[in-house]
Amino acid sequence: AHRVFSGIQPSGGLTLGNYLGALKRFAQSQNTGVQSIYCMVDMHAITVWQDPATLTRATRELCAGFIASGIDPEKSILFNQSQVAGHAQLAWVFNCVARMGWMQRMTQWKDKAGKNQQNASLGLFAYPALMAADILLYHATHVPVGEDQKQHVELTRDIAIKFNHDFGVDFFPIPEPVIEGAATRVMSLRDGSKKMSKSDPSDMARINMTDDADAIASKIRKAKTDPEALPSEAEGLEGRAEARNLVRIYAALSDTTVDDVLRDVGGRQFSEFKPMLSDLAVAKLSPISVEMARLMENPSEIDAILARGAERAREIATPVIDRTLEIVGMVR
Ligand code: TYM
Repeated sequence: AHRVFSGIQPSGGLTLGNYLGALKRFAQSQNTGVQSIYCMVDMHAITVWQDPATLTRATRELCAGFIASGIDPEKSILFNQSQVAGHAQLAWVFNCVARMGWMQRMTQWKDKAGKNQQNASLGLFAYPALMAADILLYHATHVPVGEDQKQHVELTRDIAIKFNHDFGVDFFPIPEPVIEGAATRVMSLRDGSKKMSKSDPSDMARINMTDDADAIASKIRKAKTDPEALPSEAEGLEGRAEARNLVRIYAALSDTTVDDVLRDVGGRQFSEFKPMLSDLAVAKLSPISVEMARLMENPSEIDAILARGAERAREIATPVIDRTLEIVGMVR
């Protein structure tokens, strides 16, 4: 059986990276008939301090972002993690399966904890075991993510393999990361060697899903580039991280490939290409931000969608957590 699961943290707002690396691809795969489960991972968000009112709002806004991006809560399951207790239950079991050394190797842990690991929360360290629980609680087989989450999905595979081996069962499937498209790693607009991130101190480094047309245009106009014209083939982008990033964004927004984009714009200067990119970005993103704002006017409707999604998620999760605890030997 083929089942998709993915999650997004309701911490800070959504960026163009989240849209191209995740949401847009979720919407595209919706009509394949595969069961898809998408989670607002509020329990992951609190691994670093979140102001409670901001977390509530960000969770609703994220749900609005899913729907505005074209994910239909009837076809897919949309819910927030903390409403399905199985995530925490299975994460505990996986905390006891995973090894400290596995967690220590995670690049996101090293980046986020920084030099002062002693002062990071225990939850931040254990985070990948919770993510494994998210995926395996539904016996998901495919996990669409951006490139930055690949290592965590690989760790999920290791946890599934070790659990099955330790208990002598063939219970958890070994899930595959699905990392596809022209923009699996959208970079900062200010520095082509850094990921576009909601936590970047400079707002000019990212495009937020809630940015208006003027903000989008001004961020793209000021985006770092080099003085050369655009090449006519992808090889010409080697060593030109900022140029490559803008071309990849253009390709992903227009549902084509980098080669196709360069066939059209090769030879042009950035002074010509940037306005094309910003028109495209505004055309694609504005309707989404308008719809998000409209949905946010009615928070109780969003809460009802999340509650209904959680109910459907629990139907799948309950037999899996029950069976897991039984395999472990816990009296039921
Ligand atoms: P998060 O919330 O940081 O990001 C959500 C999704 O957006 C992708 N993404 C990007 N893709 C391309 N370029 C970027 N600059 C960029 N920034 C973010 C991420 O790869 C991700 O797909 N740990 C996860 C959330 C999570 C999860 C899960 C994902 C929790 N449980 C289970 C999949 C399955 C995270 O922090 O994503």
